[in-house]
Amino acid sequence: MNVGVIGTGYVGLITAVCFARKGNSVTGFDTDTRKIEGLNAKPRITPIYEAGLEDALNETLGKTLALSTRLEDAVRGKDVIFIAVPTPPKLDGSADLSYVENSVQSVVKHLSGYATLVLRSTAPAGTADAMKLMAEKYHNGHDFDFAGNPEFLRQGTAIEDFEHPDRIVIGTESERAESLLRKLYEPFDRPIYKAGLRSAEAVKVISNTLLAQRVADANFVARYSDAIGADQHEILHLVGQDKRIGSHFLEPGPGFGGSCFPKDVAALVAECRKLGVKHSLIETILKDNHDHMLYVAEQTERLCGELRGKTVGVLGLAFKAGTDDMREAVSIPIIRHLQGRGARIQAYDPQSMEKAKPHLPDITYCDKSIDAVRDAHIALLLTNWPEFKLLSPQAMRKEMESPVVYDTRNALNGALFKKAGLIYRGMGRR
Ligand SMILES: NC(=O)c1ccc[n+]([C@@H]2O[C@H](COP(=O)([O-])OP(=O)(O)OC[C@H]3O[C@@H](n4cnc5c(N)ncnc54)[C@H](O)[C@@H]3O)[C@@H](O)[C@H]2O)c1
Repeated sequence: MNVGVIGTGYVGLITAVCFARKGNSVTGFDTDTRKIEGLNAKPRITPIYEAGLEDALNETLGKTLALSTRLEDAVRGKDVIFIAVPTPPKLDGSADLSYVENSVQSVVKHLSGYATLVLRSTAPAGTADAMKLMAEKYHNGHDFDFAGNPEFLRQGTAIEDFEHPDRIVIGTESERAESLLRKLYEPFDRPIYKAGLRSAEAVKVISNTLLAQRVADANFVARYSDAIGADQHEILHLVGQDKRIGSHFLEPGPGFGGSCFPKDVAALVAECRKLGVKHSLIETILKDNHDHMLYVAEQTERLCGELRGKTVGVLGLAFKAGTDDMREAVSIPIIRHLQGRGARIQAYDPQSMEKAKPHLPDITYCDKSIDAVRDAHIALLLTNWPEFKLLSPQAMRKEMESPVVYDTRNALNGALFKKAGLIYRGMGRR
């Protein structure tokens, strides 16, 4: 099948390579010409870090995948065109749909025959209907349909998630669009569910809101455990044995970040406000997350003592392991808070340091994890990169100014650190 992808960022590039891998003829387009030129250059400059992406690009680019700086290449002759452009938050939290509007307008002007336009960007229910109305004004006479096909990939495991999703949701009122999308997804051999267009759009924001709430619940249990001298892991493990609750995704950390949870929860709150839907429960999720990051900063100070003139060694800056993405990373507010209290920050992240620099210009970036904790008064682990598990407690004890470790992801073996004579604190764990 001939597939176009508009926007080759985290979602669009993965969408493009994964469909190309299945033998479709795929063309991706991005308005960021440097991104496309870098991807086509030799040696290639890949704009994002994602496990398996280099191999997938090697397999497909120049064969079943083309990346172009000309929009028409990703539109003309395509059966299905995915729109994967940003939907960033406006000041009131609502989704800025201008990128989607611009793409739809340009796409329908360049159609060379029938195509199904698929909204891959996360947008409020009703966006596809609004885009359809708008497209009626701009199209060049060729037929088109709209479909919603929410993307559920998680950065860090994006290719695996795309190729083996729990479910594929197709929202459309058109039988032609449904049949094209079913055919496109058939080789993935995963459950496909058909839904109304608005329901399909809502599935994504509701999923992200419930997941964000679950993380906030786990973070609350961690703070509560700290206060009562209990272990959140024991509590949540046993709570999770109740099948109605389950234990999946019930793990505390330093707060959630990334380009999706904060944005999608804020957008749903703004949408509910506009619709007059009562929403006090979901309104508290972002406030709770903010309070939790503050809690991490305060705990760091409690463990370290007065921060003025002290050095905090930060392990991990990306919003999660497996990605270089710094969008809404919790490391940013936490580090700024610690700096505000007078701490000096030295940090290491295996992938995100270049992307962190504009957000955190006045910290010391280190070449290795052990360098980040050298002479530090506390080691603060914020992202659970597997390589941090390899840090030797003995080496840390030797290199650090004072042997204190705050592991906000519960990534390390606390018992080993204590045995080596370090003061170890996990998130909600003694
Ligand atoms: N990142 C995720 O994990 C994830 C998961 C599911 C859904 N989403 C949603 O997918 C959408 C895209 O997210 P992302 O993380 O890939 O964003 P991104 O910023 O990484 O990528 C978007 C790309 O679109 C390009 N672009 C902007 N306007 C364009 C236009 N008119 N034509 C062509 N290209 C254009 C940008 O240059 C950029 O490369 C958002 O709505 C997001 O909420 C993201």
